[in-house]
Amino acid sequence: MFILVTGASGQLGKSIESLVKKDNINHSFVFVTREQLDLSSLSNIHSYFKTHKFDLIINCAAYTAVDKAEHDREKANMINHLAVKQVAEIAKSNNIKLIHISTDFVFDGLKHQTYSESDTTSPINIYGKTKLAGENAILSIMKFDAIIIRTSWLYSEYGNNFVATILKLAQKNNNLNIVSDQIGTPTYAGDLGRVILNIIKNDKFNELERVSEIYHYSNAGCCSWYDFAKEIVNISGAKCIINPINTEDYPTAAKRPEYALLSKKKISKEFNLKINSWQDSLKYCMKNLSTVSLLNKE
Ligand SMILES: NC(=O)c1ccc[n+]([C@@H]2O[C@H](COP(=O)([O-])OP(=O)(O)OC[C@H]3O[C@@H](n4cnc5c(N)ncnc54)[C@H](OP(=O)(O)O)[C@@H]3O)[C@@H](O)[C@H]2O)c1
Repeated sequence: MFILVTGASGQLGKSIESLVKKDNINHSFVFVTREQLDLSSLSNIHSYFKTHKFDLIINCAAYTAVDKAEHDREKANMINHLAVKQVAEIAKSNNIKLIHISTDFVFDGLKHQTYSESDTTSPINIYGKTKLAGENAILSIMKFDAIIIRTSWLYSEYGNNFVATILKLAQKNNNLNIVSDQIGTPTYAGDLGRVILNIIKNDKFNELERVSEIYHYSNAGCCSWYDFAKEIVNISGAKCIINPINTEDYPTAAKRPEYALLSKKKISKEFNLKINSWQDSLKYCMKNLSTVSLLNKE
C-alpha cells in the first residue's frame, strides 16, 4: 500500500514515523508536514491529491490547541472539520482508506462511567465540537473503509505535552499545584502508533467495503492530572512536591470533561490487542526521553 501520514511533525506523526523506521513494514509511507500539505486551504488539499495517489491516509494532523480554539473557532473548524470532510470526499471518490484520529473531548464527561463508542456525544468546548464535526463528516461521506480512533491525554518523546511540561517545571520549582478532579487516561503516542500499524496489518482492516467504525483507544487504567504529574516526578527522581487542586483553582479558556474514560473493549477484541497500563507506558517513554537527552549531550 501507498500510505500518507499527515501531521508528520506532531506527536503521533513522529511516533508512527519512528516505528516505521524500526520495523520492516511492507508498505510505502509518505509523511507530510504542514509545509507539504496545508490543511487550512481546501484548494491546497484538492491540488495535492490531484498529483499524489495513495491507498490509505492516516490523518494525524489537527488543530490541537484546545484553549486557543475558543477564540480561533474558524481555523479550528477548518482543520478539524472542513479539511477532514474534504479528505473524506477525496478518499471516497478515489477508493482510499482512511484512519482518522479523534478525541475523548467529544464527550461532556458527566456520565461518570466509562464511555463506549455508541455513547451520546456532547462536547463542551470548541476543539471537541470541531473534532466531532470532523467525525460526523467522515461517517456521512464514507459508509465504508474509514476508521476513527478516539484517544485521550496523548504524550510522547516529541514536542510539547504534559510529561515534558511537568519535567521542565519540576526542575525549576519545589512545589506544583495540579488539578485532581479531572479523571482520564494518558495515552503514549508510541502505543497508539503501534496499534495503528497493527490495524493496517490485520486482515479485517483489508476486507473490501468494510463498514466504517469508531474505536476508542488509550492506555489501561485511569488517573487524575495530579496522579499523572506525581508519577512523572516519581519516575524522574525530582524532589518537587505535587499538590492537588480543583479545576476552579486553575481556570482555562476551554472547559474540560470531568471524567472521560474510554472503554477499549471494542478495539482490543476486534484487533486482538493487549493494552499497556498507563504507568508502564509512561516509564517506557521517560526511559526513551532520558536516552534522547543523554545522546543530545554527547
Ligand atoms: N494531544 C492530545 O492530548 C490529544 C488527545 C486526544 C486526541 N488527540 C488527537 O490525536 C491526533 C494527534 O495529536 P498530536 O498530539 O499528535 O497533535 P500535535 O502534536 O499537536 O500535532 C498536530 C499536527 O497537525 C499539524 N497541523 C496543524 N495545522 C495544520 C495544517 N493547517 N495543515 C497541516 N498540518 C497541520 C501540526 O503541524 P505543525 O507542527 O506545523 O503545527 C502537527 O504536526 C489529533 O487528531 C488530535 O486531535 C490528541
